[in-house]
Amino acid sequence: MTPPTVCVVGSGGREHALAAVLARSAEVVVTPGNPGMPGASSEAHRVTVTGAPAEAVEADLYVVGPEAPLVEGLADRLRARGRPVVGPGADGARIEGSKAFMKDLLAAAGVPTARYGVFDQVEEARRFLRSLPGPFVVKTDGLAAGKGVYVAETLAEAEADVEAKLAGAFGRAGRRVVVEEGLAGPECSLLALCDGTTAVPMVPAQDFKRVGDGDRGPNTGGMGAFGPLPWLGLQAVDELMDTAVEPLLAELGRRGVEYRGVLYAGLMLTADGPRVLEFNVRFGDPEAQVVLPLLREDPVEVLGAVAAGRLASVLPAGRLAAPEGAAVCVVMAAEGYPGEPRTGDPIAGLDDEGRLAAPVDGVTVYHAGTRRDGPGEPFRTAGGRVLGVGALGADVADARRRAYAAVETITWPGAQHRRDIAEAVAVR
Ligand code: AMP
Ligand code: GLY
Repeated sequence: MTPPTVCVVGSGGREHALAAVLARSAEVVVTPGNPGMPGASSEAHRVTVTGAPAEAVEADLYVVGPEAPLVEGLADRLRARGRPVVGPGADGARIEGSKAFMKDLLAAAGVPTARYGVFDQVEEARRFLRSLPGPFVVKTDGLAAGKGVYVAETLAEAEADVEAKLAGAFGRAGRRVVVEEGLAGPECSLLALCDGTTAVPMVPAQDFKRVGDGDRGPNTGGMGAFGPLPWLGLQAVDELMDTAVEPLLAELGRRGVEYRGVLYAGLMLTADGPRVLEFNVRFGDPEAQVVLPLLREDPVEVLGAVAAGRLASVLPAGRLAAPEGAAVCVVMAAEGYPGEPRTGDPIAGLDDEGRLAAPVDGVTVYHAGTRRDGPGEPFRTAGGRVLGVGALGADVADARRRAYAAVETITWPGAQHRRDIAEAVAVR
């Protein structure tokens, strides 16, 4: 039997992780991909990258990684050609394309979230800010690669950020801002696989958003992740599905949106109960590098069922098998990130396929912002988040030890990473 072909759309660490797990049972073509991805080929199946657009790639299944092509309607265009897709159409992707739309949808669905207002005038935003106790959160309405959110301790900082955003610091994405009350509590990323009817939760994970150790410094796209979360068991996950994910899907259904793809709830577990900070319409990055390797079902079969609307027949128990062990991913970023990164530096510690030169058991290196000038040339830095070092282990402490052991063997001038990913859980 010829194996299926899966087309993955994207070029980051998340898409590298998708390619790596899908290559267990399918041929994988990634567009546009990155030069580290062919290194994810398995013994049985190859991962190739192509510059061709997804519409021009012949495949049995399409998995769209990032939000931008979904917001632009890539899934609709593929479905119009009869192709099975993991990823919502533009109607569902609007949840992530506009935070103002998402907040209004949450309110309509009765999903608990932070108090908020949406503004395009500084004066009105200022008036609302003054009605809040603080801390304050200012978000660009549009997409900003995880960097459009500012958490301000003082009113003056919040007002200055509103002014900067509305004055064009984020271009079109910041023409409107969402202003929120600042919440406190541990965060959790709950990714659900949705097939239009059925939704099943994946392993809950935690993302480390700030650039520096101890959650200091500006927000990034994510500097590391781990899962499962020892403090969030099966029952708690079911409750989060009932309070956050199911009501949102029901509200989308009332609006005529059939959602087939990953629905990612970014939650904060506050003293007053869980609150949704945001919904994303795709796998998280770097959460994917943690939740996908922990999947015990065949990823091609499960994602194929998402696209085809038949999750219930593939998962008769209504849920995924509990993971064995844990996973940790540590992101290695270029100097300057999340601002303008320094690029072009050769990366030491990788072999000719872009894998670890000195292998560590259970560890996979996921390429994100890398480039290569030709065969035999070194891999070089080409973006803010350069590599993700992902490890599987018997538990979080074990996975963490392996991930950091591998991180120590990789370097380039100006490389930065957090040293405290999953530390609070592993060191007890
Ligand atoms: P978002 O893109 O909306 O998830 O925001 C990115 C990050 O900003 C979140 O993961 C939180 O760390 C932080 N954040 C967002 N909204 C709030 C809030 N209302 N209170 C406190 N922190 C927040
Ligand atoms: N890691 C956060 C995100 O993917 O949005």
